[in-house]
Amino acid sequence: MPMTAISDPSVYPGADYYEATMRQGSWQFHRDLEPSPVWGYWATNPHDPHRPIGMGYLGPTFSVTRDHPTVVKWRNELPTTHMFQHVIDDIREKKPVVAPIPPPPYKYVPQFPDDINVWNVVHQHGGYTAPQSDGLPEQSFSPKGFHAEGYTTLDPSRVKPNEAIYGYTNHDHSCMLWYHDHAMGMSALNVYAGLAGLYLIRDPADERLGLPRGEFEVPLILQDRTFHKNGSLAYTMVDREGEDTPVVNGKAYPYLDVERRRYRLRILNASNERFWRLRFDVDPRDALHEPPLPFWLIGTDGGFRAPLHMLDFLISPAERYDLIVDFSQVRPGTKVNLTNYPGTQAHFPGIPGCGPEIADIMQFRVAKSLSGGGDRTTPPEKLRLKAVAPIKPQPHTRRREWVVYQHELYRTMTFNAVPYMEPSQDFIKEGSTEIWEYINPNHDAHPMHVHLVNFQVLNRQPIDAAAYQKDYDKWIYGGRKPKDHPVLANYFTGPPIPPDPDEALSYKDTVKAPAQMVTRIIIQEFVPPKDDIASIPNSGAELPATYIHHCHLLEHEDDDLMRPWTIVGRDG
Ligand code: C2O
Repeated sequence: MPMTAISDPSVYPGADYYEATMRQGSWQFHRDLEPSPVWGYWATNPHDPHRPIGMGYLGPTFSVTRDHPTVVKWRNELPTTHMFQHVIDDIREKKPVVAPIPPPPYKYVPQFPDDINVWNVVHQHGGYTAPQSDGLPEQSFSPKGFHAEGYTTLDPSRVKPNEAIYGYTNHDHSCMLWYHDHAMGMSALNVYAGLAGLYLIRDPADERLGLPRGEFEVPLILQDRTFHKNGSLAYTMVDREGEDTPVVNGKAYPYLDVERRRYRLRILNASNERFWRLRFDVDPRDALHEPPLPFWLIGTDGGFRAPLHMLDFLISPAERYDLIVDFSQVRPGTKVNLTNYPGTQAHFPGIPGCGPEIADIMQFRVAKSLSGGGDRTTPPEKLRLKAVAPIKPQPHTRRREWVVYQHELYRTMTFNAVPYMEPSQDFIKEGSTEIWEYINPNHDAHPMHVHLVNFQVLNRQPIDAAAYQKDYDKWIYGGRKPKDHPVLANYFTGPPIPPDPDEALSYKDTVKAPAQMVTRIIIQEFVPPKDDIASIPNSGAELPATYIHHCHLLEHEDDDLMRPWTIVGRDG
């Protein structure tokens, strides 16, 4: 299980202060594997800075109180040669990595000098954070203190060159955020090496809900990894020698002993690219009802929602599902398997990575007895969780199109054929509500993530992808004349499809954008956190405030399916 971070409230009065250090460690993913070099975040006890504590892989779990700010000093003590150096060398040899998309001719932006191989930055995923603490790619910094152009830190007098101080407002709902590496062009390699962790926001008012807690509340970080024969991590996309292996909280094929009672399982898909279609399988002879074991969804990415009774769900990278699973619904001594199965959700075409090569993920071994006088948690159907109010489009609500664009000759993907490093072209009036349309004419589904905000899934609509792609190519190669820009409405092949029950009326920060469809989300209230964290000047956002959105398949985010967008003043 992830460890918990240790805070010091005396450093910045009014905020909890933490230090975390990125380091290389050693980690055994399975008893049959030799330990592997890994990267992780090590928690530093501010009172004993010389003895950081880490698991090796992943990072400490932050558990913070809603609206009570957190300040973290992130320190980079990673080696100066990358764990997957051969991948970086490869990319550099094959320069230019940015495919020529004409016109206008975008300048090729060198990412880092050739003698720097490791750079990092930490993003709190899903948080309501000011831009200077958001961990954008251009804020990366290296172990030796090289800074990318956009490097920022709060309280500069207290940092060394290989450090950055970020402030988190925690003005979020009670929910499970996570943090992970967001380095320019390299987040996929860095997260794969282990740079990710959990960030739980708690509301004291939740205590009255009667949810399972303590050892009965279990966060599960799902990833897939491959290994060399000696047990060391192999980077899946390049080193195809091992088998895809499910890893949960850093352990391959783990099991968890559970009691016959309700558990709260807080699931994060922290895989680079894999979607999982999950259910709880149990032998029919051991189930008290028809299997698979049903469960309740009580929350998503950004917080609680009205409970929903379910049998399975599809989780894309970066999504979170907050579940209540009742292990008293099986016979004592039963084994319940969390499995990934192929399934047929025809309305989500192009989902990569679901079964069958990884089927079993982990096992829950249901004990015979129940400790502590039984289960006194609230039955899920009786939970007092408010339904999330729908965000309704207004007549003046602006629509913004984001086309997942990949020319068939080029590897690089972009939004609207504009590389990430081009300055923001999307200016959003503060406080406004917008509908964003992710137009996906290619063959894979993508999880789309927007920083800062929560949104709702409005609907999806199938399009004639081949025709759209052809006309979009024509528009680009014909000089991007406005009159040639494809009009989306001309390509619909069916009516809008409402969101699935598990994504409807939920707080989302990541949405599945299936192949050959437009996926519509509605975002209410673009407003960045403007107040300073008391005791740290200049920690609040100023307008214009630039954030980003991107595909959360990490290899796509690096290359180049990511764009900035900017909140401007109400009368700007
Ligand atoms: Cu989880 Cu911009 O990322």
